[in-house]
Amino acid sequence: MSAAFTARGLVKRYGAVTALDGVDLDVEEGELVGLLGPNGAGKSTLVKIGCGLVRATAGEAAVCGSRAGSAQARAAMGYLAELFRFPGWSSADEVLLLHQRLARSSGGPGERGELLELVGLADAHARRVEDMSKGMQQRLGIAQALVGSPRFLFLDEPTSALDPGGRRTVRRLLEELRSRGIAVLLNSHLLSEIELVCDRVAILSRGRIVAEGRPSELARPRGVEVDVDGGTRVFTGAGRADAPRLVADLVAAGEHVYGVRVLESTLEEIYLEAVGEDAG
Ligand SMILES: Nc1ncnc2c1ncn2[C@@H]1O[C@H](COP(=O)(O)OP(=O)(O)OP(=O)(O)O)[C@@H](O)[C@H]1O
Ligand SMILES: [Mg+2]
Repeated sequence: MSAAFTARGLVKRYGAVTALDGVDLDVEEGELVGLLGPNGAGKSTLVKIGCGLVRATAGEAAVCGSRAGSAQARAAMGYLAELFRFPGWSSADEVLLLHQRLARSSGGPGERGELLELVGLADAHARRVEDMSKGMQQRLGIAQALVGSPRFLFLDEPTSALDPGGRRTVRRLLEELRSRGIAVLLNSHLLSEIELVCDRVAILSRGRIVAEGRPSELARPRGVEVDVDGGTRVFTGAGRADAPRLVADLVAAGEHVYGVRVLESTLEEIYLEAVGEDAG
């Protein structure tokens, strides 16, 4: 099977501004990939090219094997825009009905009910958008992206308006999508969230991918801390593999060891190092 999303040598120039400067990225079937980067790095531009809303200056993008923007590609994907607004007078159910028509989904009331249930809005199906909190609207936006059972989702900052409880709901939702085999490319500024939920992260800076991998692969050892009678000894530069020897040496030297911690760089440290001066 083809990858859920591929970008090859994508370049996008808006006049004098180079938003994407040669981006290669793959999202495999069922994979959840987090796209990180400072404001203006090109994240939304990449997503819009993938949806067929923006035309690339050079390079190619494909969704589930079909050229981005083609009817087949659009049928295979769902999209939640960074800035979206549904008509205030329409109910949650009507918003989904409209999108079922747009996506030519034959799911009917069953699909609408299931999606509202999935995003925790079952009780609010008749509530008008203007009477919903921002968080509820954002969850409705995710339900909208899932209309027509897409195999791949572009979510551009789906948790930016959510409180911690709402973010956890979305995190569980993303895990549920993964268990259903739906691939996701997720833009976010919330590093801890990306670290918790994503299989892989790509960091974009000034239109280029500057780091990519599983959060655990990107993390670098920062040392080993060992608690002994006199306090905590820090062995800078040591990693997990060094821990048994360090402990054995301390014990051989007559120390009592109460605790050992292997320190690794956090995603925030990796991110700040990768984007350098672009961090703002
Ligand atoms: N329609 C447009 N016309 C001109 N310039 C644009 C347009 N859209 C985006 N840009 C520029 O392209 C660059 C990348 O913008 P983009 O919206 O992709 O960034 P982003 O990574 O999504 O940022 P943010 O985190 O703020 O959402 C920016 O310099 C932006 O000003
Ligand atoms: Mg953006």
